[in-house]
Amino acid sequence: MEKEIIIEEELSVTELVALGNPYENNMARIAAMEDEFSHTMEPILKMYNAAMNLATARLNIIRDEFEFRGQRVPIHHIDTRLKSSKSILGKLEKKGMRLSLTEAFNNIYDIAGIRCVCPYIKDVYLIRDRILAQDDIQILEIKDYIASPKPNGYRSLHMIIRVPVYFMSKKQLVPVEIQIRTLAMDLWASLEHDIKYKSLSNKEESLDAMELDMDEELLQAAELIYAAQQKFEIMNSAMEK
Ligand code: GTP
Ligand code: MG
Repeated sequence: MEKEIIIEEELSVTELVALGNPYENNMARIAAMEDEFSHTMEPILKMYNAAMNLATARLNIIRDEFEFRGQRVPIHHIDTRLKSSKSILGKLEKKGMRLSLTEAFNNIYDIAGIRCVCPYIKDVYLIRDRILAQDDIQILEIKDYIASPKPNGYRSLHMIIRVPVYFMSKKQLVPVEIQIRTLAMDLWASLEHDIKYKSLSNKEESLDAMELDMDEELLQAAELIYAAQQKFEIMNSAMEK
């Protein structure tokens, strides 16, 4: 059967503002009234959610393929998260940007976020290459914090991709951030996040009392965990030769 509809036209983000919403593209006014704001963001977040699900499906297909072939699976687990309308607004404010939907669409690439956690470093690059090979996925940016770790010890491979989402009879290329890292790197990043952002309010005093330089401790922990990772890499390559 012949395909009847070919959707080429790109959707403009402002078209996603719920019909009849009087605040349109003016996020500053919307922010003043949070209920209205999250109502306005709802269809846009649905589109990002769709993009996140599509990209996650691509990763799951890779996992299925290895399982089907009876080979070691290069993905340990996948986490997804959608940024809330509140934190999108917070990020725009933090970056000193205009509070508009268009500004958010063009500048915030981690509204849809996927974390793909792999057993070994070679799996991280395998996943990257499988994504690069998919010709309907656009690559906006790749940051390799494994080859060049952040000064604090953070390691991970970040990709910003755009996946086609068909919504309201139009096509939109929606950005998704994929963080690909090993279990060891994920262990460090999770605990570092916990320590940096969820510590007790009296942390300065307790740090002084313990004479702890937290940044130095975190960096040392990153290097220890990475050394353990490398031991497992060596064992794995001996087993998979
Ligand atoms: P934004 O995209 O504006 O946040 O900045 P950026 O593009 O410079 O960020 P980058 O690509 O370096 O990092 C984006 C995401 O990676 C963050 O939102 C975190 O989830 C994660 N990340 C980056 N650096 C660290 C870190 O030092 N520790 C932890 N735990 N996570 C990090
Ligand atoms: Mg970023």
